[in-house]
Amino acid sequence: MYLNRALHVEVVLSLLFASILFVGCSEKKSPNLDGKKLLKQKCSRCHNLDIPPKTFADEKAPPMMAVSFHILGFINAATPADKLPNAIEFVTDFVQNPSISKSFCDKESLKTYGLMPSLKGKVSEDEIRAIARYVFTHYTKDNLLAKMKKIQQIREMPKGRLLAGQNGCLSCHAKNFKKVGPSFKQISNAKSTKEIKNSIKNGSKGKWKESNNIPMPAFKKLPNKDIEILAKWIKKN
Ligand code: HEC
Ligand code: HEC
Repeated sequence: MYLNRALHVEVVLSLLFASILFVGCSEKKSPNLDGKKLLKQKCSRCHNLDIPPKTFADEKAPPMMAVSFHILGFINAATPADKLPNAIEFVTDFVQNPSISKSFCDKESLKTYGLMPSLKGKVSEDEIRAIARYVFTHYTKDNLLAKMKKIQQIREMPKGRLLAGQNGCLSCHAKNFKKVGPSFKQISNAKSTKEIKNSIKNGSKGKWKESNNIPMPAFKKLPNKDIEILAKWIKKN
């Protein structure tokens, strides 16, 4: 009876072990590790992590976006499905044993940056895999395009809308419906530009019944030219 149970446990364990090994062949997973956080901790001192990347005259390493594009562009893979696991294994090896011949950086860049120092012992293999998995799924063409689109939208935004966002006005006001404060449409219909400017600078309380005496804070430090732009923008609603 006991023997039987022991045998049973052993069989189950060995099956489990075999399946883990089998999974390990296609891609070694490292769950529970936060690749994004680790990337920041272990790599951001040299690699810029922004999308789109910021580049500096005295940067220490290529931006992570460039690293991701290099490797995904050049890595050997028998099938498209092999690309990601191969890229992750490349990074796992490179971070521990960097060499000029392995690097996908062009010769000129390698000369300016110098070879990456090995991080062996400073970051574990599981951590590198989690970082690499995050890098290759985050620094993608789709994410770059989405980010560029957002930047373009902000560029095209009216200055008043931009200032309203930057100064927290939109947490209490919306264009067409009451939030904490009245909508910009209501305000525009009821108030002159001069009154609006005055209220932004000095705050307001008790003028709008539906706001139940909640005060609007004074924005004393906001430059007059920004108040002017905000007031004109509100009047256009
Ligand atoms: C002390 C600075 C430094 C740190 C920290 C650092 N790197 Fe690098 N890395 C470099 C430099 C310099 C290069 C460019 C030269 C080269 O390819 O070796 C580079 C290149 C690379 C490349 C090869 C890029 C290519 O296009 O072939 C990979 C992959 C890479 N780094 C990953 C990482 C990861 C992941 C981390 C964090 C775990 C990290 N690096 C941390 C300096 C650093
Ligand atoms: C914490 C919430 C809050 C924030 C932040 C806020 N408001 Fe208000 N706002 C209110 C409330 C509440 C009222 C209604 C006050 C009243 O009844 O007099 C109001 C009223 C106003 C009015 C109408 C005042 C009047 O004279 O009738 C204007 C204009 C206005 N806000 C603009 C802004 C702008 C521009 C910003 C950002 C720079 C801003 N608000 C930020 C809550 C807020």
